[in-house]
Amino acid sequence: MPPVSPLLTVMVGAARKAGRSLARDFGEVENLQVSRKGPSDFVTAADKRAEEVIFAELSRVRPGYGFLMEEGGTFEGTDKTHRFIIDPLDGTTNFLHAIPQFAISIGLEREDEIVAALVYNPVTEEMFVAEKGAGAFVQGPTSRDNYRIRVSPRTEFIDSVIGCGVPHAGRGDHGIFVRELAGIMPRCAGIRRMGAAALDLAFVAAGRLDGFWERNLSPWDMAAGILLVREAGGFATAPDGSNRIFETRNIVAGNEMAHHALMKALADARA
Ligand code: IPD
Ligand code: CA
Ligand code: CA
Repeated sequence: MPPVSPLLTVMVGAARKAGRSLARDFGEVENLQVSRKGPSDFVTAADKRAEEVIFAELSRVRPGYGFLMEEGGTFEGTDKTHRFIIDPLDGTTNFLHAIPQFAISIGLEREDEIVAALVYNPVTEEMFVAEKGAGAFVQGPTSRDNYRIRVSPRTEFIDSVIGCGVPHAGRGDHGIFVRELAGIMPRCAGIRRMGAAALDLAFVAAGRLDGFWERNLSPWDMAAGILLVREAGGFATAPDGSNRIFETRNIVAGNEMAHHALMKALADARA
């Protein structure tokens, strides 16, 4: 077992509680798929319910900390050095379509640096956690033991499976994405668009994906995943290699080889 701080234990408890609510609602969505109105209003409510649970649990134990939440916005805390960055449901489109690839993402930022993180899929019950300097771990459904995770050891980009985000109607720069994809797809073993950026980053940390890139993300999509990747021995930066991920809203992550190859391919696509 890794040394898990009391605060991460509370974060894990909050995510499990909110996860039970999301999992129940996900069961409903599968039924609502057949109704004519469809489940979209219902999903918006599921999202808010999960966030309320997480906020209630975390603000009870850390009343002074700030919060940045996708649904509820910003709460200034009295403690200006700490804030939780929360996405209560990352992968809304998957959830809405009854695809069980979605997660709760919670990152804790201390003085502009993420120091504790979790990404939890309540359907598979996989809980990915990391603390700065202590490594990254996953806890599965059948065991409460944590297993250490590491980014993939792959050394050739041609053997690599790369995750990405694809812009859709009304979002993102479609032209740039098509150029990037055209540059990357002939050089690697496969591209995946799984639909939940927080889980994509957790999958990079677990060595399932060798690399990942996406543009136009928000801090709550990436905060936890950035620490997971780094603590798993990988790299997570803006496409220019800098730390300006939240400012640029763009991220490139992977093991050292894939991160490097992706940065080069993205630069080439813009040249
Ligand atoms: C979305 C997911 C998706 C990414 C989108 C995000 P949401 O978050 O992470 O994979 O491509 O850009 O907005 O809206 O499902 O929380
Ligand atoms: Ca999200
Ligand atoms: Ca969300």
